[in-house]
Amino acid sequence: MNQDRVFIFDTTLRDGEQSPGASMTKDEKLRIARALEKLQVDVIEAGFAIASPGDFEAVKAIADSIQDSIICSLSRAVDADIDRAAEALAGANAGRIHTFIATSPIHMQHKLRLPPDQVVEQAVRAVKRARNLCADVEFSCEDAGRSEIDFLCRIIEAAIDAGARTINIPDTVGYAIPHQFADTIRQIMSRVPNADKAVFSVHCHNDLGLAVANSLAAVTAGARQVECTINGLGERAGNAALEEIVMAIKTRQDLLGVYTGVVTENILPASRLVSGITGFPVQPNKAIVGANAFAHESGIHQDGVLKHRETYEIMSAQSVGWHTNKLSLGKLSGRNAFRSRLEELGIVLSGEDLNAAFVRFKQLADRKHEIFDEDLQALVTDTLTEVVEHIRLVHLDVSSCMGEVPNALVQLSVDGVEQEARSGGSGPVDATFKAIEQVIGSNATLQLYSVNAITEGTDSQGEVTVRLEKSGRIVNGNGADTDIVVASAKAYINALNLMREGAYRAHPQAAGV
Ligand code: KIV
Ligand code: ZN
Repeated sequence: MNQDRVFIFDTTLRDGEQSPGASMTKDEKLRIARALEKLQVDVIEAGFAIASPGDFEAVKAIADSIQDSIICSLSRAVDADIDRAAEALAGANAGRIHTFIATSPIHMQHKLRLPPDQVVEQAVRAVKRARNLCADVEFSCEDAGRSEIDFLCRIIEAAIDAGARTINIPDTVGYAIPHQFADTIRQIMSRVPNADKAVFSVHCHNDLGLAVANSLAAVTAGARQVECTINGLGERAGNAALEEIVMAIKTRQDLLGVYTGVVTENILPASRLVSGITGFPVQPNKAIVGANAFAHESGIHQDGVLKHRETYEIMSAQSVGWHTNKLSLGKLSGRNAFRSRLEELGIVLSGEDLNAAFVRFKQLADRKHEIFDEDLQALVTDTLTEVVEHIRLVHLDVSSCMGEVPNALVQLSVDGVEQEARSGGSGPVDATFKAIEQVIGSNATLQLYSVNAITEGTDSQGEVTVRLEKSGRIVNGNGADTDIVVASAKAYINALNLMREGAYRAHPQAAGV
């Protein structure tokens, strides 16, 4: 075991997806998995295979196509979960089953309704079963942050004996305080007799805004795996943010004495991809990936940075991927240049898909002078999304004039039949959505509408996310265009198409064992 390396376990696709409203399609998860592979994270938790057929397919697709990272599936400590996880991971180059059971008195008594002895028994049985199916098994003590230390030591020793090679100590409800959490890790690692046979991991939630601080404190105490998510996405207030963990370790190597294998220049593209797909915007003052993270407003600071960058910057913007979005292609670029640039971005298209994307590229190049990598990513989103286009935007005519009610005429193809409707609204986007609803009559509730400029400048494409809810089911639709009303219509229609297809997803911690 390498004592100085901290393994980065990304759970954006599992815990991150547990953020209310952050559900992703299989194709979106695959795109994020590819971005995580480019980041060179050590482990990608691809999902919770038993949760739904959609989750199973996503874990399987990621396991079948990602080569460089370990692919992991979550499972409760029950046979059916473990078997399903193993099935989804069968094609992985390197797979891991992550099994968990709650260990705090409150969870054992009220959720599991099991005495501690039976919890240990179930954990051991689960780890043994997982080890028979997969060489790499991680065991988590759910709600470890509120568990008794003696019980933690007991169950961890038993799990290691049963074959777990990573032991995860989650602060499931974000209750820990850094020095106390570090002490818990230190105590466990010194008291568990077979601790040297496992890597100790932490998984911190951000309910008190301490997820990153607690994770780093645990690293100083000996933890050598950190579970985290891009942009800190995750259940409730989220998980520890990967970009903050990785950059703190890199920037303060002098103090922490550890390193990660993450290619930090790929952080910003990954952050943007996750934000675009989930529709969770990144706040401007967010560390590392916020728009202002490297912006210097005060004259004194600007002067200092111009004279010597390190006066006010502890890391360079380039080192996390800012200002590296190459000017890719222009109006005169040909199909081969287009295809090979996409391939450099990890997007492989051929046949009809390539033709369709190339036509859209030419249309975009007519409207937008400079085309960046982010534009290409957004451009191919439709092509990469396998959702069937039951509903397609044929034509949109919007008028908006100061002092008058905006008006939208929408023509849609619905299962091959063209239909149109006209509506007014409080703004052009509102009028467009109302006109679409007049045709479709979905009766879904709009829960979120967000627009992000993909690149800089007023000719940038707007990337819109629309979140719709109906009967407890939530979908996120995306659309991009230089015209944000068109992007909005595309996103709304994408959400309606997903709604027609989507599958219900179970929640790992809510489900009893
Ligand atoms: O927060 C948590 O406890 C979890 C476990 C399933 C690892 O997400
Ligand atoms: Zn969690």
